[in-house]
Amino acid sequence: MSAAQLTARRGGPLRGVVRAPGDKSISHRALILGALASGVTEIEGLLEGDDVRRTAAAMAAFGAGVERLGEGRWRVEGRGGFSEPADVIDCGNAGTGVRLIMGAAAGFPIAATFTGDGSLRGRPMNRVLKPLGQMGATWICRDGGRLPLTLRGGNLKPIAYTLPEPSAQVKSAVLLAGLNGQGCEVIEPEATRDHTERMLRGFGAEIEVRDAEDGRHIVLPAGQALKGTRIHVPGDPSSAAFPLVAALIVPGSEVTVQGMLLNPSRIGLLDTLGEMGADLSVTNVRDEGGETVADVTARHSALEGVDVPPERAPSMIDEYPILAVAAAFASGRTAMRGIGEMRVKESDRIALMAAGLAACGAGVEEEPDALTVVGAVRANHGVGGGALVTTHGDHRIAMSHLVLGLAAEAPVRVDEPGMIATSFPGFVDLMRGLGADIGEA
Ligand code: S3P
Repeated sequence: MSAAQLTARRGGPLRGVVRAPGDKSISHRALILGALASGVTEIEGLLEGDDVRRTAAAMAAFGAGVERLGEGRWRVEGRGGFSEPADVIDCGNAGTGVRLIMGAAAGFPIAATFTGDGSLRGRPMNRVLKPLGQMGATWICRDGGRLPLTLRGGNLKPIAYTLPEPSAQVKSAVLLAGLNGQGCEVIEPEATRDHTERMLRGFGAEIEVRDAEDGRHIVLPAGQALKGTRIHVPGDPSSAAFPLVAALIVPGSEVTVQGMLLNPSRIGLLDTLGEMGADLSVTNVRDEGGETVADVTARHSALEGVDVPPERAPSMIDEYPILAVAAAFASGRTAMRGIGEMRVKESDRIALMAAGLAACGAGVEEEPDALTVVGAVRANHGVGGGALVTTHGDHRIAMSHLVLGLAAEAPVRVDEPGMIATSFPGFVDLMRGLGADIGEA
């Protein structure tokens, strides 16, 4: 998609059955663990967005054999560890990619230099550098722990690390560092997505998870050897959220997303939409490679505002932008609290959603770690739309406002739509296939 801007217009109902692209979190991890393992890992359903392609290229740079066999089908030949890359590792827009790879690289006596695009170079890396430093890794970086950064690892000490912020990326970086070191323990006061733990087991690692009063303890003993395996990547619930919410807000719609990941640490949005009165049905629930997947159908619904419990934030942190869009079409207020982490994503998502929704005529109240949306229905008018939304290169800000435009009174335009390809390369075609009017501006 090379358009400078995209415009979404209100049209007829959205109808159809689609598959969400492969889960981004699981795709990064499949490539990284495949490269750390000994032997061949075959992956099906890999997300082929820019973020994950960067991780694939990085794994080749660290010495793994990485080959694309066909659509979503990749083969990784792991060499049982990382060797020193000959050039800078550019992770593009991907916070997950760079933080997990830094953790993995820290386990080896090599130096590696990491960088990324303008957004990634502005994001905090201290959250991973702190525990990696306690384990014995060293680095040199820009002020404030920013990229570019050169990391040197090897000969790490074990640590027990309590996560100061609920971050699966930090948890995973520590676990991956501990893998080739002396092991480690991570304590998370609030449980975050557990794909690293599940996948480590799939690669033959021994890992103990137990819930205690101070949170969840994840213990990785020293001396692990990973063996290549087969991985089927389920559909990404964070991407499925866009067509599902579009169906909820466009009158007459019914959309089914097949094969969506239903991991309990990822489905806070479904719970919240259910509480708002969304007509959602979950069918064909099945197990695929250690993860639960299902087909999810959304029908146009009269939504009501809710208070989203702050403790639900880790299970839907990437879905608040699209939830805020649903909330704009609901009656009453939707209060989203305890979401300060949204400010350090690909953009400051609280600020950009507040600005975009306000520009489209929705009522919003912004606080340091909260966003409240006043639904238009209560005020007895629709959502006006009619704005050009600044996305700061954030894919989820762009997709959220395009979905909003499908139900707003006037068209909504977004800048930098090319960034959508970082996580959802086929988004525009998939939405058009359902009947959405999204075109080049
Ligand atoms: C991710 C964890 C989350 C999420 C990101 C993917 C992961 O980030 O926002 O899109 O794959 O571990 P944090 O760890 O910063 O919460």
